[in-house]
Amino acid sequence: MSGLAVLQLTDSHFLAEAHQEMLGINTEKYFLSVLRQAFEHGQQYDLIIFSGDLAQDPCPESYQRLREHLSRYNVPVLCLPGNHDDFELMQALLNTDMISCTKQRLFDHWQIICLNSQVPNEPGGYLANSELAFLEKSLQDYPQHHALIAVHHNCTPTHSDWMDTMMISNSAALLALLKNYPQAKVIITGHIHQELAQQVQHLHIFGTPSTCFQFTPTSRDFSISKTAPGYRQLLLHADGTFETSIGRLDLILHELKLDKGYASDNP
Ligand SMILES: [Fe+2]
Repeated sequence: MSGLAVLQLTDSHFLAEAHQEMLGINTEKYFLSVLRQAFEHGQQYDLIIFSGDLAQDPCPESYQRLREHLSRYNVPVLCLPGNHDDFELMQALLNTDMISCTKQRLFDHWQIICLNSQVPNEPGGYLANSELAFLEKSLQDYPQHHALIAVHHNCTPTHSDWMDTMMISNSAALLALLKNYPQAKVIITGHIHQELAQQVQHLHIFGTPSTCFQFTPTSRDFSISKTAPGYRQLLLHADGTFETSIGRLDLILHELKLDKGYASDNP
């Protein structure tokens, strides 16, 4: 069945230099492997959504290398910030014909709305009134379009205590707003470095694996899992239905080293 083909990439945690590692792994190497696999067998996409924590080191070099890697695929990319990103720098550097930090894109039957849940220098998320107002206006402007909303932080609990202290703290306001807009069908998030699928009211909410290391689902405390890096594919149909699946590299992250510099209170 045809539809709008979307690839979600998230939490690539690029470091300042390509050879650098965190937790014992080279985050860039796995990002490149994920990209290669996502495009295998001639798979094509209408859009890539990059849902935050693009960089662990939010410096020009990190974003420039990401831009170069993504440019090779010639697919439009929308980037939104995570808690580790420098959004101003992202907007300055991820700004080509194909790659941007544009907050809204309209297709024939769907609109894509990207929200900024970043709180500068805080690991947790929050949606400012301006973000909620932007969301509501976008939905009001295009009532006939189905909507997919992308945001970095999770807006529902993952049942991982340490992780849930960092979810969007005013997510109740987000969900209350969306209750009035049945055309809002899907929310996709990053931040939690794991797969998640939930339904709240008419909304289907999905968390997506990081392109590098994963957190252990339902763990009460900070815990890294050896599960493989991954990505999410979505096929959005004209009638508002959709299909989605997770792809993962065929490996186990044996080289993870938990003593290799990672602040568990700022994932
Ligand atoms: Fe992350």
